[in-house]
Amino acid sequence: MTSYDIGVIPGDGIGPAVLKEGLKVLEAVAAVEGFAYQLIEYPYSGEHYLKTKDLVPDRVIDEWRTLDAVLLGAIGHPDVEPGLVERSVILGLRFGLDLYINLRPIKLYAEHLCPLKGKTPADIDFVVVRENTEGLYSQIGGHLKKGTPDEVALVNGVYTWKGCERASRYAFELARQRAGQRGTGGRAKVTLVDKANALRPHDIWTRAYAQVARDFPEVETDHAYVDACCMWMIKNPEWFDVIVTTNMFGDIITDLGAMLQGGMGIAASGNIHPGKTSMFEPIHGSAPKYTGKNVACPLGAISAVGMMLDFLGDVQAAARVEQAVADLLRSGAVPSADARSGVSTSAMGDMVVERLRRR
Ligand code: IPM
Ligand code: MG
Repeated sequence: MTSYDIGVIPGDGIGPAVLKEGLKVLEAVAAVEGFAYQLIEYPYSGEHYLKTKDLVPDRVIDEWRTLDAVLLGAIGHPDVEPGLVERSVILGLRFGLDLYINLRPIKLYAEHLCPLKGKTPADIDFVVVRENTEGLYSQIGGHLKKGTPDEVALVNGVYTWKGCERASRYAFELARQRAGQRGTGGRAKVTLVDKANALRPHDIWTRAYAQVARDFPEVETDHAYVDACCMWMIKNPEWFDVIVTTNMFGDIITDLGAMLQGGMGIAASGNIHPGKTSMFEPIHGSAPKYTGKNVACPLGAISAVGMMLDFLGDVQAAARVEQAVADLLRSGAVPSADARSGVSTSAMGDMVVERLRRR
């Protein structure tokens, strides 16, 4: 029997509660599909930092490299300096394991979840491929004369040919694969989203993308500046298939995308290096105000488990998780994918498990 070693980082706030439901679904799908796994839990979080002053040590990053995948709940604590633990854990994983793709599907499962008038599941089904290890997240920069009237702050955007090339290639391969799954006549399109008019060096993206596109003659090419992309995502989301974009723009447009599919509670992501240990997480934060209230929506964490299974190559188990979530949402039993749905975190996990076993 196949067995996976999975690192688990429950984290802060609602992270542990939503991840618990994700693991409940993992247990159920493993029983149905017949695979085994071992969980290795890690304590890193804002909460843990306040108690121990521990951030992620290098030897733990090395240990993570030996696992099959890592699941993360959420990181962020109101009493800790903003970003300190997020940079250690989330960026530690992304940079430390060179997880150069942040894959964020934006798929509407049920019409009642969409805030756009007149848009249906047929209109909202695209994927954002966010470059995940460079851009404005490079951490190159800092302050000069901090706290004085002459203060200078520098945040540098770093774009490498390698980074632009591999993200573009991943996006084109994904578009080709999605078209194959849809069958003949399915559109395949990759939209490059950048700001190469105002930020001229962004044309490194234009050129790397164009070079990769030559290897995929059947895939349609497309381009939007990031501001226009936000507008099109609301006006005509059906135009998008695969978007490839920078780290920062990907961060921003995927929160917008999450709202199109029903809210932050439902959106999942994979931090991926094909063929190597990768990390899966809901895209929402730790939402401290909902800690311990059993109201957070666990569907993002559950879908992250589905994405992990797909990445591990268990396509059938992944499809089973996705179908269970889709069935539940289509049934109308969950009025919204947020903390005001009236369905508790644990009850929603149970409902997904029940539908997963039924199929
Ligand atoms: C995300 C988050 C992170 C990011 C934060 C927590 C560092 O917003 O995964 O989208 O900016 O990438
Ligand atoms: Mg974000």
